[in-house]
Amino acid sequence: MLFSVFGLLFFNFPAFSLDKKSMYAYSNPVSYGDSGVLAYCHSKHGPDGKILLDPYLEPFFENMRDLTVLDAGCGAGPWSLRAAQKGAFVHGVDIQPQMIERAKQLLVEHGLEQKAFFELGDILELHFPEHYFDKVMSINVICNLPLPRKGLSKQNALLTHFNELHRVLKKNGQVMVSGPASLGVVLTNGKKSREAIINDIKQSVIHVNVQNDRGIIHHINQIKNVQRATFVVRNEKLILIENEKDLMVGEKIWRKIPGLVVPNFYYPEEYCVKNLELAGFKILKIERPTLSNTKYDPAMASDLGEEYKNTHPFVIINAYKA
Ligand SMILES: C[S@@+](CC[C@H](N)C(=O)[O-])C[C@H]1O[C@@H](n2cnc3c(N)ncnc32)[C@H](O)[C@@H]1O
Repeated sequence: MLFSVFGLLFFNFPAFSLDKKSMYAYSNPVSYGDSGVLAYCHSKHGPDGKILLDPYLEPFFENMRDLTVLDAGCGAGPWSLRAAQKGAFVHGVDIQPQMIERAKQLLVEHGLEQKAFFELGDILELHFPEHYFDKVMSINVICNLPLPRKGLSKQNALLTHFNELHRVLKKNGQVMVSGPASLGVVLTNGKKSREAIINDIKQSVIHVNVQNDRGIIHHINQIKNVQRATFVVRNEKLILIENEKDLMVGEKIWRKIPGLVVPNFYYPEEYCVKNLELAGFKILKIERPTLSNTKYDPAMASDLGEEYKNTHPFVIINAYKA
């Protein structure tokens, strides 16, 4: 109660009561572990994300002064910070407590803690009222869904997420969703030939004990000269994916990304678009940045292999609530 009044008076934030039921509705939340959170914060979106993702998110933050913005799956808060810097009031929600702590710390470091409110929660079950936000964003979160929750099938996790974003967004409000793409391409750092790198990977994962997640993570982490690669466990073997068509929608995958290895779920672009439309969004634009069409000088991309010229590691979808 005290916090509600405080929130309203000083922070311009209605402090929603944290409903105990929904706080505990999720089970087995995703966890990167303390070291994973640190590694993720350290690598940010990686050397490729810096060029092929971050600049493409920027236009969403234009004209944000005094808008109320949701950062769904805010992580350590880099995009909440950006929105706050642009004058918005931000609500960041994340399911990992360590991420929420880091996000709060980040905003304090920038003297912007009054512009943002972070909370532990599940973006599949938001407690905000309908039509509350002017803009909502989901940056590299969809690949973390679904959580292994009771009553939520693999097929509907994405739609549940988009339905929730649609519900809390005002009419004509904009949503930005980004996610990993080109999962069938091994993206290298260009220091060795692609063929040699792929060969090294195949040799190194052949003996991995797939019963043990730690073992999988440890082995994939040892792989050198790779920025991003995708693996699945099939017939008790860890397999490198070289063609996206070999993946099934919603399938559990292991991703090597800059700085760490994470378990993810596979959702191709068409599936995201279809579910955004099913949730009631109208697509505004879809961007697939590669080094050949980047807004940045490719000379900055010293750690990115040749394949980045024609491969888009991310897709960025902008849509609005009609
Ligand atoms: C790859 S990180 C991206 C973080 C941030 N958006 C960024 O761009 O740096 C994905 C985040 O989604 C969060 N997440 C995954 N599933 C979630 C859920 N059901 N509810 C809330 N957060 C979730 C994870 O904890 C993680 O912090």
